[in-house]
Amino acid sequence: MNPLYNFSAGPAMVDPAVMRQIQDELLNYKDTGMSIMEMSHRSALFEAVVNDAKNNLRQLMQIPDNYEILFLQGGASLQFSMIPMNLMHTHKAAAYLNSGVWSQKAIDEAKRHGEVIIVGDNAEVGYKRLPECNVLPLGMDYAYYVSNNTIYGTQFKQIPMDHAVLIADMSSDILSKPIDVSKHGLIFAGAQKNLGIAGVTIVVIRKDLIREDVDVDTMLRYATHQKANSLYNTPASFSLYVLKKVTDWLLETGLETITKRNEHKASILYEAIDKSTLFSNDIKVEDRSLMNVVFTTNNPKLDEAFISFAKKYDCVNIKGYRSVGGMRASLYNAMPIEGVKKLIEAMHAFEAGVKL
Ligand SMILES: Cc1ncc(COP(=O)(O)O)c(C=O)c1O
Repeated sequence: MNPLYNFSAGPAMVDPAVMRQIQDELLNYKDTGMSIMEMSHRSALFEAVVNDAKNNLRQLMQIPDNYEILFLQGGASLQFSMIPMNLMHTHKAAAYLNSGVWSQKAIDEAKRHGEVIIVGDNAEVGYKRLPECNVLPLGMDYAYYVSNNTIYGTQFKQIPMDHAVLIADMSSDILSKPIDVSKHGLIFAGAQKNLGIAGVTIVVIRKDLIREDVDVDTMLRYATHQKANSLYNTPASFSLYVLKKVTDWLLETGLETITKRNEHKASILYEAIDKSTLFSNDIKVEDRSLMNVVFTTNNPKLDEAFISFAKKYDCVNIKGYRSVGGMRASLYNAMPIEGVKKLIEAMHAFEAGVKL
């Protein structure tokens, strides 16, 4: 079978070498005679998986010692609630930069717990530009932004705001490039785009922000998971194992190589779109995402025809988000350069056919 290039926004591709390793170990993990899927999360072998995944992340993201790494469930979406529940307790107010659906969902949850001040919003332009951040008001428990807007194809190239407790949803660009963890109070991301498969959410949180004296249910307190080394209850064990494997692969490959590859993939695709007379992308160049490239023919029927046509080139899952339409190619870490080249080939062939 030819390899398929899966441009899905998530769950997304996992590197084939990582998959093969997982396949090799699937039935008999480290000569135990059982699969990691069947193993107790209290076993020493499984605890080693958790600790290795943590150490890998600490190394890859250069996470300082005063930060805790937690592995939680409930998707990135549960963080929309856990963040205000745990952190909105001094002023009962927080600043949010609204750059799309995912920040809006986080805003809606935060409003249940306190006052939300919107410090920048670009809904008016259909989220096609990144919002400028206004001066932050005083008395905010934290300030919140989404680093990459998966749906609209926009991405902050620099951290857009400054606050002692800065929160970032990095679900769709975590470990696609280096970032400065120390500028943040909390970073979170679901694993299913750049770091493996669905089921585990990574939370990197500064230790002084983890408080026990919050009136929050046990499972929803960061302190609970910190004390239990993320093993308070049965974790998504297979997802954690895949996270360990993917982070091993990232370490072997090197974040510098991954970063360069990601830049290269995005630049050749944007170049192809910009040179095309059929396809276009109307995101301001500085705001364009390196992870999710949106483009369109501006004709829904032609878009649909191209999505079908691209399958002949082994390029699948390029349909845009339902509210945006058009196409979206997600170029997460595991998407090889060959996949992007193949997509460009499909675009050229389709364009030539349309002109005939
Ligand atoms: C930026 C961003 N935040 C949050 C989410 C929600 O993630 P989950 O489905 O893991 O709850 C997504 C999902 O695609 C996302 O792209």
